[in-house]
Amino acid sequence: MNTELDIARLNEQYATASADEVLRHFLARFGERVALSSSLSLEDQVLTDMIARLNPVTRIFTLDTGRLFPETYRLIDRTNKRYGIAIDLFFPDHARVEEMVRADGINLFYDSVEKRKRCCQVRKLEPLRRAFRGLEAWICGLRREQSVTRQEMQLIEWDEVNQLVKINPLIEWSEEEVRAYIAEHNVPYNKLHDEGYPSIGCEPCTRAVAPGDDPRAGRWWWESPLHKECGLHRR
Ligand code: ADX
Ligand code: SF4
Repeated sequence: MNTELDIARLNEQYATASADEVLRHFLARFGERVALSSSLSLEDQVLTDMIARLNPVTRIFTLDTGRLFPETYRLIDRTNKRYGIAIDLFFPDHARVEEMVRADGINLFYDSVEKRKRCCQVRKLEPLRRAFRGLEAWICGLRREQSVTRQEMQLIEWDEVNQLVKINPLIEWSEEEVRAYIAEHNVPYNKLHDEGYPSIGCEPCTRAVAPGDDPRAGRWWWESPLHKECGLHRR
């Protein structure tokens, strides 16, 4: 299933469906060939909660860049225990990390957009390629409202770059809806969200924002909003 027609038809078919219904359909359709790509964000925790109820053996993976917040590691453990699951961790290739750090330093990302992208390439994109092995589809917690770079995203997409079907069940959700779901279902979440961090990635590339600020303003805060993607969601 990768023709534009199929994708367009599915988007029409599921335009008014709930996230739960979308997940139910694609988990049944792809079985072990679909996985949730989770950064442990509020959105990904909503999806994890739904998936754990629909089919708890569904693969959930996280790219452990080695630079995540301690709170994120604690949340991985809490989530596994709460749902009786085992989130798969993918680590960067140690030789590539060593070479990069030797050449450009441990915090090279502050030097230029090019070096920041190199770090994301080594610590996220190469492991992502390995996480994709055996998959035909991936599920992400993207929401259109999150960023200027995400306005065109669809519920179901053909991910040309990775040659996979990409499913974004929360694409239309607002931040309020996400928070309401977390509260209602008592879903474990990153405590940093209560301390001014609406969007959490790697520790050196994420900082708290002031109330009312753009929720992604604290991600790669030294870069222009148009650059603020790590390459995971290239289109
Ligand atoms: S990012 O591109 O800026 O880092 P963001 O943090 O908004 O992405 O997350 C968007 C979606 O990308 C998440 O809901 C998740 O599906 C996926 N994602 C982001 N970071 C990771 C990660 N470290 N591991 C797995 N999936 C991730
Ligand atoms: Fe490296 Fe920052 Fe990208 Fe994480 S977000 S992989 S630390 S540049």
